[in-house]
Amino acid sequence: MKIEYNKDLTGCNTFGMRVSCSCFAEYDTPEEYSSLYCVPPDGSPGGTSSGTAGKMPADLLPKPFLHIGGGSNLLFTGDFPGTVFHSRIRFIRELSRSGGNVLIEAGAGTLWDDVCVFCAENGLWGVENLSGIPGEAGAAAVQNIGAYGAEIKDIVEEVKCFDAVTLSMKTIKAEECGYGYRTSMFKEGAKGRYTVMSVVLRLSETPKPRLEYGHLREAVEAAGAGITPLSVRHAVLGIRNAKLPDPSKIGNAGSFFKNPVVPKFSFDIVENYAKSRYGDDYEVPHFDAGSGFVKIPAAWLIEQCGWKGKRHGNAGVYEKQPLVLINVTGTATPQEILDLERKIINSVETTFGIGLTPEVEHI
Ligand code: EPU
Repeated sequence: MKIEYNKDLTGCNTFGMRVSCSCFAEYDTPEEYSSLYCVPPDGSPGGTSSGTAGKMPADLLPKPFLHIGGGSNLLFTGDFPGTVFHSRIRFIRELSRSGGNVLIEAGAGTLWDDVCVFCAENGLWGVENLSGIPGEAGAAAVQNIGAYGAEIKDIVEEVKCFDAVTLSMKTIKAEECGYGYRTSMFKEGAKGRYTVMSVVLRLSETPKPRLEYGHLREAVEAAGAGITPLSVRHAVLGIRNAKLPDPSKIGNAGSFFKNPVVPKFSFDIVENYAKSRYGDDYEVPHFDAGSGFVKIPAAWLIEQCGWKGKRHGNAGVYEKQPLVLINVTGTATPQEILDLERKIINSVETTFGIGLTPEVEHI
């Protein structure tokens, strides 16, 4: 285990917040991580004289604990007083093939897009729409990443974790993961209990293109290379590059807010507003969410409130996709991002009566 004290976290969060943590611990194998929770038979480390007898190595690290992946969906609101863990368990391997289904396993610290490259190059369907999403495989399964009509939950077979309650490894089937829109039990009820070691995904050799989102089909067809996992991947990357800022150039954490799901009567208020502003033929973008609920793109609501491309000190709203808040100068402080977040929430609330909730996790 590599342990560093007073570590600068600027390079560990794609927003580029200049914060630090008391302790940073990186591990390479599940065994290395689980050994943190073993009581050595002789009472070490530290020996009895230092009062550490019977303690697990984890007891000796500063609290609280936080586990991060690529730091691509986080907003550090200040220095972190405890220990930040990061997995370097990196591998992708094929587990089995039968009836057109291929199971692959990826270590939690594997770059998510490396998984997408592996599948595209091997002609496997299932992750191509999720190409180019920053972050790592473990965190992808925790937050149920999604894009262009696909979510990782649809192809997760099982998640292999360390359980901090039973102090043992546990394999959790997808149906037990409590998946929802950008969430899972790992982020909610069981937060802090499980640490993902690897993810098993179910890919398909049989073509299963999902091209109905936006202009994806047009983009794939325009490229003229047929419909393959690789051609869909390239089309998705092209659309992402045109709309979303590259975190290595402009600090950001992807969509900052969730798309709100509201009762039909709330949508009617939004629709009346839009028709009075743009005329009766205007169509507010929305998706039927079932049971009398409607999902409205937060990007549209934010744009209507005049935020697109606006700056607040060193923070700003991305001009091509207002759902993304950016660290414009690279020197934005957490407070500047939080102020901008509050202002946007207030104006959407005042204009439409809809409360936006952040998608990015605040630490
Ligand atoms: N829109 C506007 N103005 C804009 C941009 C978009 O009004 O400037 C409206 C348009 O009506 C557009 C709609 O918003 O049709 C949806 O836009 P987009 O397709 O870009 O998707 P999104 O709903 O804003 C979601 C995910 C993204 C994901 C895209 C594509 C969430 C919170 N975000 O954004 O995920 O890439 O769909 O599938 O669900 C992320 O989670 O970090 C992320 C980037």
